[in-house]
Amino acid sequence: MTQIITVTNQKGGVGKTTTTSALICGLSQRGARVLGIDLDPQGNLGFHLGLDIGSGQTVYDVLAGHTRITEAIVPTRYGDILPSDIMLSTAEVEFTAPRREFMLAQQLDIVRDNYDFVIIDTPPALGILTINAYVASTGLIVPMEAEVLSLVGISQIRDTVEAVKTSFNPNLKVLGVLLNKYNPRLTLSREILDLAEEVARQLGSKVFDSKIRRGVQVAMAPAHGQSVMTYAPDSNPAYDLRRVIDEVAGDRFPRPRIKPRPRPY
Ligand SMILES: Nc1ncnc2c1ncn2[C@@H]1O[C@H](COP(=O)(O)OP(=O)(O)OP(=O)(O)O)[C@@H](O)[C@H]1O
Ligand SMILES: [Mg+2]
Repeated sequence: MTQIITVTNQKGGVGKTTTTSALICGLSQRGARVLGIDLDPQGNLGFHLGLDIGSGQTVYDVLAGHTRITEAIVPTRYGDILPSDIMLSTAEVEFTAPRREFMLAQQLDIVRDNYDFVIIDTPPALGILTINAYVASTGLIVPMEAEVLSLVGISQIRDTVEAVKTSFNPNLKVLGVLLNKYNPRLTLSREILDLAEEVARQLGSKVFDSKIRRGVQVAMAPAHGQSVMTYAPDSNPAYDLRRVIDEVAGDRFPRPRIKPRPRPY
């Protein structure tokens, strides 16, 4: 069965796109058939995966009914990508038809059987685009920034998840809270972990065992059109993200035996 996973948090800059691009890249490296979808009008995911943005059709054209999903999907070295468009920023006022919450789910029905995983990046908001992602998904991953972790904002995600489960998608699950920019040396770490457990409990979920440490390589990778998984496979954040990918991939897609080639100097 195709797993459709949305990476979500309405707070900006917590690592949604970093996590999404790592999952797309890491799962593809293991031989899974992956479709990445960028639902963020900022269009950062394409940038992280080296896409030449601004040329072809986008998820906006698909949701607006201007084009078929199969015509907008772009093949890359690391799976297929449905790129974003700044036009998506009009979604809230433009997409007003009945059942507008199902626009993405209906399109995914056409192609889902071609993929083992669909990984969706979302904007830092809980608007109609994020709702569309939740309605289409089997699971959510919620990255949070460890050092500024707080319960504020969690109730909004929880309420949105509950509303989507009640009205549109009863099978939706929160797969886990992912602590990012984690500093294991910080004396606050124990308190941060306790708070993270509480956040996860409120979402009916858990905290991923693997916490993502800070690393400058994460910030550098997109400038090279790469995920940190290929740009700096031996860096701390890539190591930590690999353990998250292990969990998502399960036994079906174990790590490749060959160590990824180190990046050339
Ligand atoms: N583990 C990390 N170590 C160092 N820098 C990181 C790490 N994770 C993310 N960053 C940096 O933090 C910034 C935000 O990351 P990212 O773009 O993945 O977040 P986001 O949640 O997608 O943001 P937005 O809400 O704007 O879409 C980026 O500059 C990124 O390079
Ligand atoms: Mg982002």
